[in-house]
Amino acid sequence: MVWLTSIRQSPACVALLTQVLSFAAILLLILVFPERKLSLFQWAMLQGALAALMSYRCRMATWWTVIHLLFMPTLTATLALSIPPFWFCIGFLLLALIYGKTYQTQVPLYLSSQEVTTVLSSWLPKQNNFSFIDLGCGCGGLLKNLSQVQSNGSYYGIEAAPLPYLVSKLRNIVFAPNNTIKWGDFWKDDLTQYDVVYAYLSPVPMKSLWEKARQEMQPGSIFISNSFIIPDVTPEKSVKLNDFSGSTLYMWRI
Ligand SMILES: C[S@@+](CC[C@H](N)C(=O)[O-])C[C@H]1O[C@@H](n2cnc3c(N)ncnc32)[C@H](O)[C@@H]1O
Repeated sequence: MVWLTSIRQSPACVALLTQVLSFAAILLLILVFPERKLSLFQWAMLQGALAALMSYRCRMATWWTVIHLLFMPTLTATLALSIPPFWFCIGFLLLALIYGKTYQTQVPLYLSSQEVTTVLSSWLPKQNNFSFIDLGCGCGGLLKNLSQVQSNGSYYGIEAAPLPYLVSKLRNIVFAPNNTIKWGDFWKDDLTQYDVVYAYLSPVPMKSLWEKARQEMQPGSIFISNSFIIPDVTPEKSVKLNDFSGSTLYMWRI
């Protein structure tokens, strides 16, 4: 039953299973009641409603219900546009290269704002050298911007998704060649060498990440999270930003 537990722990797997089961149920209905003459779109709406209901009953987050409700009807409606399959293939590849790891990490790609750079740079040491890592550095914009305003730091980034990693690498080679960008999983990276660790992830990894930070980071070093708190640990400092996502920066000292 290990496989059942791992499916339950991954919302993406539960979503896939929900789609497959509701699709199979509708297929069975079509076979059993061939006299029911519904259009393809109507069957798709029925499948969407069934999938949404299953998702709701499985107590998935609310947005999954909406996604299930709309997924098959939207797919069917898109068929009417007669878009060549080539473009679907390109779209799928791009999404897989950007979001393909999200089913494991449960952290999608979204980017820190310019306001984050401004506040972070005011928290970084002005005179002394320091090392800074962005865990899951996305397209590398934050590292590039910070290194341009705060040149007494050494900047590192690690990113798991192939396309954002490539963009980040090229961007930093061109605009901030001293920055180091690695492709990989930050859970396998040792945080001992960093004075400042920055994370803009999701609520899911925060508790485990704090455990990792406490075990590996040096006393006095700083852990900063954009938007997501560490459960039950009060930050030393927090600043609400006036950016597009209304984010808040939280800072803890180890
Ligand atoms: C919300 S984005 C933040 C991007 C960037 N740090 C910024 O602030 O603009 C989170 C990124 O973390 C990456 N990520 C999630 N889990 C990871 C892991 N275990 N190792 C490396 N990267 C990870 C995701 O692929 C995603 O690009």
